[in-house]
Amino acid sequence: MTISLAELEPIVREAGNIALAHFKDLKHLAINKKAPRDFVTAADVAVEAYLKEALGKKYPQFGFWGEESGQTANQISRWVVDPIDGTHSFSKGQYFWAVSVALEIDQELVAGVVYAPALNDYYSAAKGEGAFKNGEPISVSLEDDLGDSMIATGFACLRSYLEDNNLQRFSRIAQKTTGQRRFGSAALDVCLVADGQVDAFWEQELNLYDIAAGVVIAREAGATVTDFKGNEGVFPKQILVTNGKILAQLLPLM
Ligand code: IPD
Ligand code: CA
Ligand code: CA
Repeated sequence: MTISLAELEPIVREAGNIALAHFKDLKHLAINKKAPRDFVTAADVAVEAYLKEALGKKYPQFGFWGEESGQTANQISRWVVDPIDGTHSFSKGQYFWAVSVALEIDQELVAGVVYAPALNDYYSAAKGEGAFKNGEPISVSLEDDLGDSMIATGFACLRSYLEDNNLQRFSRIAQKTTGQRRFGSAALDVCLVADGQVDAFWEQELNLYDIAAGVVIAREAGATVTDFKGNEGVFPKQILVTNGKILAQLLPLM
């Protein structure tokens, strides 16, 4: 590995602390709209500014792509960062949001950290080295019956131009599963599959920064990462993460 997860940890934890300080003082949080129904807060901007600086200082060999500040010159090897995934939940005082940091080299995702400070959950993985939650190894669930499964998804409410709004797919799948959840942070949703808390997650029209870190963690925990047809790979516009055992039962319903 080109980086050590242990060296990365204090940087990501500090980013989480910056977010947490704003989270504890929501009354004074500045919230703006990037577009209708698309919020950005002072916390998103502060966390990303910190990560860009701290990562750039420690790892000058890598470029940076963050949701709020865009891309630097080097995009061959780069950090892919969502400073706060789950901003809407964050701004409402809900606990389900996370700082997401991935390292991608030559289009391959090689390391990922998803830190949810309000939940006190720190997920991390590096390619070939396993996946961890708060330092303990994690793996996907053993569930092999879709009927007994719990699934999670998200809805692309910002993209009202989409013909496929996921409601019909959700309805089809909801009727064939026991539990359905909409947590509100794609980065964490993917980690929940990795940790066996849900058996599958899918969403449409995401960006790489929403799921990049989660994908490394999920793969290292034994998950399959595909599109809605079952092609392996990272397709943010159509991502399906499963424990592998219910994939074949889920695909015809996608
Ligand atoms: C959002 C979250 C949400 C998903 C949205 C994303 P943001 O990211 O991941 O779960 O449904 O599509 O945009 O805006 O909170 O970083
Ligand atoms: Ca996001
Ligand atoms: Ca975000």
